[in-house]
Amino acid sequence: MDKLIIEGGKPLKGEVKISGSKNATLPVLAATLLTDETCILRNVPKLTDTNTMIKLLKSLGKEIDWDKDKLIIMSNGKVNHIADYKMVATMRGSICVLGPLLTKLGEAKVSLPGGCVIGVRPVDLHIKGVEALGAKVDVDAGYIIAKAKRLKGSRVYLGGASGPSVLGTANIMMAATLADGETIIECAACEPEVEELANFLNEMGARIRGQGSPRIVIQGVKKLHGADYKMAPDRIEAGTFVLLSAMSKSTFMIRDIDYQQLMALDDILIKVGVQVEADKSGVRVKPPKILKPMSITTYPYPGFPTDLQAQYTALMAMANGVSVIRDTVFPDRFMHIAELNRMGARIRREGGSAIIEGVKSLCGAPVVASDLRASAALVMAGLVARGKTEIRRVYHLDRGYENIDKKLIALGASIKREKE
Ligand code: EPZ
Repeated sequence: MDKLIIEGGKPLKGEVKISGSKNATLPVLAATLLTDETCILRNVPKLTDTNTMIKLLKSLGKEIDWDKDKLIIMSNGKVNHIADYKMVATMRGSICVLGPLLTKLGEAKVSLPGGCVIGVRPVDLHIKGVEALGAKVDVDAGYIIAKAKRLKGSRVYLGGASGPSVLGTANIMMAATLADGETIIECAACEPEVEELANFLNEMGARIRGQGSPRIVIQGVKKLHGADYKMAPDRIEAGTFVLLSAMSKSTFMIRDIDYQQLMALDDILIKVGVQVEADKSGVRVKPPKILKPMSITTYPYPGFPTDLQAQYTALMAMANGVSVIRDTVFPDRFMHIAELNRMGARIRREGGSAIIEGVKSLCGAPVVASDLRASAALVMAGLVARGKTEIRRVYHLDRGYENIDKKLIALGASIKREKE
């Protein structure tokens, strides 16, 4: 396992290029199961999670090769409808092969993903959705077993206690592309990654409209063909670098970022006193001398994203006053608090909220990463803290941030990767 050693306090300058979107790539990769023809994906991020999904698809009958930063996905003639436990358990996103396998092969056996440190990860909405399309579903020995000769389009409400489900919407949208007739998904997730998946499916010959809105309408078709598609930049990586720029009081150019997708973050940053200049060449952040404390609550898109909550908590740890952060999507997503407090932050939990008392500075310390976005928060803290920070278990970081240490070194950070 690797660890990162960071010497804090270095000013960051220059420019960073945002990689392709992890959370769009995973369902788009799963969607290639809907055709036996060749698909080409460009600007695919080289991440642990991408590799995990590639391994899973190979076990399901795909032949996949990298050609520089292009991914060529073909069928190897084998057909397998079982996504086994050891694959799915390491990455919850694997659940999104359920819809494609079921609608293409008439059956799917997908391991239940289990929980993770950010909370219980139920799949009741995924099951509700495929049952609404006529599938017979059993849950047995840790697997979802779904069968249907031919799925039949219908109207299904996919809202849960915490609102829409991103991958639940993805699964049902994919399943509906080859179903008989029309499917209407009510309370669909509006995240840009869902929109991107729908655009890719339409490139394959699907007939989807309303993506990006709470109502998505899918007309089933007989067959889907291959497609050549370029992944959009990663919205959450981009937001992470915007928050790092503000927290490190540095200004650098962030390229390949669709800032329109970060309006909830922009709205808060203006109140914190951070200016952001965005044009077609990229984004530059103008941090203030004093960060004003601003409380936030996370919501499904277009609300403040839960995937930027840990990074924003790190920023508020340095604000001039008290702020409260509530996460309505994953109420337990606060693993980063204990580690930030080891670095001198003053944060306490109260129910589903974190109360943050800003401090003037953080001090470097040995800390342990726990999940993808918590790890990003610790890297941000280490970059601004006095002295040395050692972050262990950075495999969490490598799941979702491509070459993050190389990108930070190019910006002037003092950061080294060593074996633990
Ligand atoms: C996606 O996970 C993302 N992962 C997550 O990003 C992100 O945090 C999440 O959406 C919310 O935006 C990928 O896209 C690979 P959900 P997903 O289903 O789809 C509840 C990261 O850091 N729910 O939208 O699994 C659930 O408990 C990762 O990149 C049900 O109740 O999340 C949660 O409270 C972490 N029943 C809420 O809905 C279900 O059947 C939103 O979950 C499914 C979900």
